[in-house]
Amino acid sequence: MPRGVAQSLGREPRTVTLVRPDDWHLHLRDGAVLQSVILDSARQFGRAIIMPNLKPPVLTTADAQAYRDRILAALRQAGAPAGSFEPLMTLYLTDRTAPDEIRRAKDSGLVHGVKLYPAGATTHSDAGVTDLLRHCRATLDAMQDCGMPLLVHGEVTDPEVDLFDREAVFIDRVMLPLRQAYPALKVVFEHLTTAEGVAYVREAPGPVAATITAHHLLYNRNALFKGGLRPHWYCLPVLKRERHRLALLDAATSGEARFFLGTDSAPHAKGAKEQDCGCAGCYTARHAMALYVSAFDAAGRLDRLEAFASLNGPAFYGLPPNAGTLTLEQVPEQIPASLPLADAEVVPLAAGESLAWRLRAE
Ligand code: NCD
Ligand code: ZN
Repeated sequence: MPRGVAQSLGREPRTVTLVRPDDWHLHLRDGAVLQSVILDSARQFGRAIIMPNLKPPVLTTADAQAYRDRILAALRQAGAPAGSFEPLMTLYLTDRTAPDEIRRAKDSGLVHGVKLYPAGATTHSDAGVTDLLRHCRATLDAMQDCGMPLLVHGEVTDPEVDLFDREAVFIDRVMLPLRQAYPALKVVFEHLTTAEGVAYVREAPGPVAATITAHHLLYNRNALFKGGLRPHWYCLPVLKRERHRLALLDAATSGEARFFLGTDSAPHAKGAKEQDCGCAGCYTARHAMALYVSAFDAAGRLDRLEAFASLNGPAFYGLPPNAGTLTLEQVPEQIPASLPLADAEVVPLAAGESLAWRLRAE
C-alpha cells in the first residue's frame, strides 16, 4: 500500500461541531419540487426563512399558514423526525400589502419577515414593489411598530444601471432613505454580494443585518465563464469580482453579529437553466454546510463559523439558538452531476467538483 494512503487511513479526519445551524434565506418551492428538496435542508438546518416567491406569491398570513402546512406535510412524507425542522414563513410585499395584514402576520407567530422584491429584480418578482417609499409607507410603519423585519432583495431594476452596480446603487437610492424614514425598522440585506454592501451593513445605524450565501463566499464572476458559458453558476445578485468576494469572506468570518448564513438555495430544473434565457438561481442546499465550512477553512477561521451559522441569525430575529449540534468532517465528497427534482433533475452548484468536507453521518 502506498505510504500516503496508509498514513491517511491511520488518521482521524478533522471535524467541526457547531450548534445546529439555521438557513436565513431559502427557496423551497412547492408541490413535487418541495418534496424533492426538503430533506436536503432539514438534514442540516434546524430552521429556515422560507422565501415567498411562489407562483402565485405568498401574500397573506393565510397563504403563509397554508404553505407552512404543505412544508410540514412534505417533511412528514420524507420521513423527517417530527419537530426537527421549523419553517419560518415570510410574506411577499406588494404595493398593496395592507398594514392590517402585517399585524395579522405578527399575531400568527408563524411569519418572521416580509420580503421586498423590487418589481422585475429576479425570479418571480413581477408582483413586487414598484416604489417602496411611495407605495408602502403605512405598511412599513406597521412593520416598524410591531418589530416585523423587512428582508430586502437589494438591487435596483433600472435598466440604465449596470448589472454589476445594482446593489451599490440600491444602497444610495433605497437603503439610505429607508433607514432615515424608518430608523427602528429591522432590515436584512439579503444575499449581500459587494464590498459596498459590506461597508454599508457594518456602519448603518439601527437594526440592520445581512445574509451571505456560500457561493458568493467561494466564487467570483470568473466561475460564470470558466471554459464557456455556465448557466448553473448564474444567480441574482450575480457573482461579482474577487475583491467583493474577499470583502464578503472578511465579513462572514469576522464574528460580527450583523452577518449570518443564508444559502439562497434556489432550485430550477436543468432545462429551465440550460436555454436561451435561463433562470437565475443556484441549487446549494444539498451541500450547503460543506460549502460554508470549505470557505471558512480556506480563510483559517473555522472558529468563527458557529457565530455566523448558528448564533447571529437567531439573535437578530429574537429567537433562541437551536438545541443539538451538527458535525462536519474533512473527508472529500464529490458533488453529483445532477439530483432528482420532481419529474426532472437539478444540477447542483459545483456539480462534479470535489468538496473537502462532508456531513458526518449521525
Ligand atoms: C431566486 C429564485 O430562483 O427564486 N433566484 C436567485 O438567483 N437567487 C430568487 C432570488 O433570491 O433572487
Ligand atoms: Zn433568494
